[in-house]
Amino acid sequence: MPMWDRFLRACWGQPVDTTPVWFMRQAGRYMPEYRALRAKHSMLELCRTPELAVEVTLQPVRAFEVDAAILFADILLPLEPMGAPFDFAAGEGPVIHNPVRTAEDVHALRLIEPEESLGYVMQAIGVLRRELEGRTPLIGFAGAPFTLASYLVEGGKSTSFLETKRLMYNAPELWGELMGKLAEVVRRFLRAQIAAGAQAVQLFDSWIGALSPSDYVTYVQPHVHHILRDLAETGVPVIHFGTGTATLLELQRDAGGTVMGIDWRVPLEQAVQRLPGIPLQGNLDPTMLMAPRPLLETAISQVLRGGQGAPGHVFNVGHGILQQTDPKQVALAIETVHRLGVRGS
Ligand code: CP3
Repeated sequence: MPMWDRFLRACWGQPVDTTPVWFMRQAGRYMPEYRALRAKHSMLELCRTPELAVEVTLQPVRAFEVDAAILFADILLPLEPMGAPFDFAAGEGPVIHNPVRTAEDVHALRLIEPEESLGYVMQAIGVLRRELEGRTPLIGFAGAPFTLASYLVEGGKSTSFLETKRLMYNAPELWGELMGKLAEVVRRFLRAQIAAGAQAVQLFDSWIGALSPSDYVTYVQPHVHHILRDLAETGVPVIHFGTGTATLLELQRDAGGTVMGIDWRVPLEQAVQRLPGIPLQGNLDPTMLMAPRPLLETAISQVLRGGQGAPGHVFNVGHGILQQTDPKQVALAIETVHRLGVRGS
């Protein structure tokens, strides 16, 4: 019998029958089933309608032998009830209608009660737990304060994070208020997801690699710590993920988390040396899923070898699956991980 909980066991550094694998953005546009639903509903409709969010979450679970399901939602969902409505514009990504730039804007942001204003997320989690019980663990998630602040302040995606850093450097107190509000909302939201049944949660600090180590310590780390210190008491594993974090890993670990998520720029062997005793998640380059079979298999076995020194290894891509990915390659990658995966018992 395959182990249904090998993902949770690896998060805690317990023995597994083979390396567990799931993929960030495993539900999404690369899947024909997802595109068919998206033809009928907007992204936000999918997120806000529990039956649809449940259906999309289950699509990759039905199609592939993934070892975890990740709730279908988006890190930006809390921004709307906080007072910053947004939309996903075709081809442009998220657009925040009124970016947060002034003291008044920051003061006006509300500290929401997620059970009330994001109840649809917790409803979807409840249904998913019943559907997946004893078969596949369910991961909840939220965006970390800096990554959320970057969308709020820039008004959308950014490469330089100019307005975000301008606020950070020119109005440090206001920045502290903004980050404090975001951190408290994220803490409450992840607590609510765990109370609703999420068996693990991932904190996405996707754009944190834009900061120097000293700025991370000054402007961000205390706020991430506020969230992760509290979640450590829940008994649920917390995956702390970022990209471009080669100079930040130890500082991120100090902020908290059960498992550290690593992108592909840092070889896992190196992460193992730098984060002794910490279970790791990662870190195949998502573009490697476009590579021919022999190269893909070699890359997967390299990642597996790298993860061997960690107390636990959850195989994943180093950032979300790209929409151009062939689902057959995803199936091949998962089969390869399970076949070559590390047994420890
Ligand atoms: O991993 C999963 O399968 C769960 C679902 C999930 C989505 N977004 C669905 C989504 C998760 C975990 C996220 C997290 C998220 N959202 C992050 C952090 C992870 C990362 O990739 O760095 C960020 C930065 C966002 C914000 C966001 N949402 C952006 C920048 C975009 C546009 C992306 C694009 O390529 O257009 C989204 C939209 C979004 N979120 C889509 C999906 C499947 C595409 C929506 C569509 O169908 O058009």
